[in-house]
Amino acid sequence: MKAIVCMQYGTPEQLQLRDVPAPVPKDRQVLVRVHATTVNDYDWSMVIGRPRIYRLFFGLFRPRRPIPGMELAGVVEALGSKATKWRVGDKVYGDTSNGGLGTFAEFVSVPEDELRRIPEGLSFVEAAAVPHALELAYQAVVGLGKLKDKERVLINGGGGGVGTFALQLAKRQGCTVWGVDTGEKLKAMTAMGFDRVIDYKQQDFTQLGERFDLVVDARTKRSAGDLARAIAPGGRYVTVGGDPGRLIALLLARWFGRRNMHILALRSNKNLDDLAPMLSSSALKPVIDGPYEFQELPRLIRRFGEGLHTGKVVVRVVK
Ligand SMILES: NC(=O)c1ccc[n+]([C@@H]2O[C@H](COP(=O)([O-])OP(=O)(O)OC[C@H]3O[C@@H](n4cnc5c(N)ncnc54)[C@H](OP(=O)(O)O)[C@@H]3O)[C@@H](O)[C@H]2O)c1
Repeated sequence: MKAIVCMQYGTPEQLQLRDVPAPVPKDRQVLVRVHATTVNDYDWSMVIGRPRIYRLFFGLFRPRRPIPGMELAGVVEALGSKATKWRVGDKVYGDTSNGGLGTFAEFVSVPEDELRRIPEGLSFVEAAAVPHALELAYQAVVGLGKLKDKERVLINGGGGGVGTFALQLAKRQGCTVWGVDTGEKLKAMTAMGFDRVIDYKQQDFTQLGERFDLVVDARTKRSAGDLARAIAPGGRYVTVGGDPGRLIALLLARWFGRRNMHILALRSNKNLDDLAPMLSSSALKPVIDGPYEFQELPRLIRRFGEGLHTGKVVVRVVK
């Protein structure tokens, strides 16, 4: 099968499109023919090998599993000997980050529990854009964030995959939503429905004198003390990711009393089946950058790393 392989840490340009043997599904795995996949933070980090602490997971000196890619939409092609959940031909999607990655390929073996049925009416391209970002947004906004109707919300990193879903979830509850990001994305964010957008290269949202009932952060870069200035009395702050040092400091701040500051630990694919009706009716819609072609992946990983994308970068694997 064709796959994008990463043999060493470095730059996206070092990635190679190669012919490699297709995986064989183990006991409770299924083999999926990948129709569409996406680029995520993990892919960028794995390819460049930074932050270095991530090498504990990816491999100390070179990637242990050389095929990046964590999200997929595709069709079940074969079943492991103990797999009972799916039939050959089922249309499935999911975030495989708990199951070993490897979706930048024509086929991938995935634990059967990591997959969900593609909601009625969604194309492979649309479905691939959903699992990771929607789960992070939902678990941040509705789960830890406990958003109430008509609250004031700020989404830091609002133009990315998580931010664009977080906006939709907050708007469903009649909230006023501010978004922070930069560049071309700001115009797109206004068109998507953000009530106000802020360029983080021009302004620091923690210094605006504005307070929010909920701050959702896709890129934590500020100290707990700074962030506290942007939170209204009774308000909550939820980060889904950011600088590792900042996240550790936030964890300590929480231990030392800032109980309204939360760090999300993603539970992959947990709510997808419950959210399927909203996806089918387009009440929730992925914002798609692309779709692009498979051989463009090295360029697209750079595009993602440099933050030039809006929403989810989606790649068609099967034409
Ligand atoms: N909690 C968990 O268990 C878990 C699991 C997996 C992943 N994650 C994390 O979840 C996040 C995924 O977010 P995503 O998919 O939405 O990423 P994304 O698509 O890259 O979006 C993030 C956005 O933030 C912007 N940004 C960068 N620096 C910023 C700053 N200082 N202030 C405001 N915005 C800034 C980026 O733009 P520019 O790049 O142009 O600046 C980009 O538009 C990542 O942080 C990832 O590490 C968490």
